[in-house]
Amino acid sequence: MGSELLTEVEDFARFRLSQEGEYIRSQGRSNFLNYRYEHTVTVVGLARKLVEIEGADEFICIAGAWLHDLGKCYNPDLDPEENRRRREDHGYYGAEEAGKFLDNLGVETETIEEIYQGIYKHVGLTRKQKEPIKPLSAAIIWDADKLSKIGLTAWMHFIAYSFNREQDDGTYEQLWQRDNLPIMEKIRENLNLEISVDMADKRLEYYREYLKRLKAELRGKK
Ligand SMILES: [Fe+2]
Ligand SMILES: [Fe+2]
Repeated sequence: MGSELLTEVEDFARFRLSQEGEYIRSQGRSNFLNYRYEHTVTVVGLARKLVEIEGADEFICIAGAWLHDLGKCYNPDLDPEENRRRREDHGYYGAEEAGKFLDNLGVETETIEEIYQGIYKHVGLTRKQKEPIKPLSAAIIWDADKLSKIGLTAWMHFIAYSFNREQDDGTYEQLWQRDNLPIMEKIRENLNLEISVDMADKRLEYYREYLKRLKAELRGKK
């Protein structure tokens, strides 16, 4: 599958992600650090790495990574209730929207079906079944999305996400108390591929060290 097609997918994803940013601003909330966009770019980067290591299909995995959170991108053509429904079941609605978009692009049915599965199945932090998600492309989309929620990247995203939400002013202390370590460990347990678990372990090691240093510095101990 050509890289031109992938560029079209990327452009569409960027456009839909910008609509989400506009929606956040229209609600009087800050889109500083652009959480949803940055998250998606991070997931694409991770998916690229996993594709390279696993020898998986590039178009399916990278298109899936770009489109995986479409269901969380506000669509101004739909009413607020419909948008709320999309957000609540973003795997299904995202897969549906991606399917239609790819069909209009002329992508073959089998390829669309596999991307659909990857988007549909990526939702959640833990999996019901012990076995890795199938096919490999869906496992890669899951792992790329979850790895983005582990380690220093996740810390950055957590801060960015906080700007996107309506909430009271926070303190540094509140921030480091919400280091999300227990949830990161749980996410690690639910990764599909061995290489992803290795990457998660490295990320967690750096992250624990970072938190230790951060706390010490903020308390004037370093
Ligand atoms: Fe998602
Ligand atoms: Fe995501």
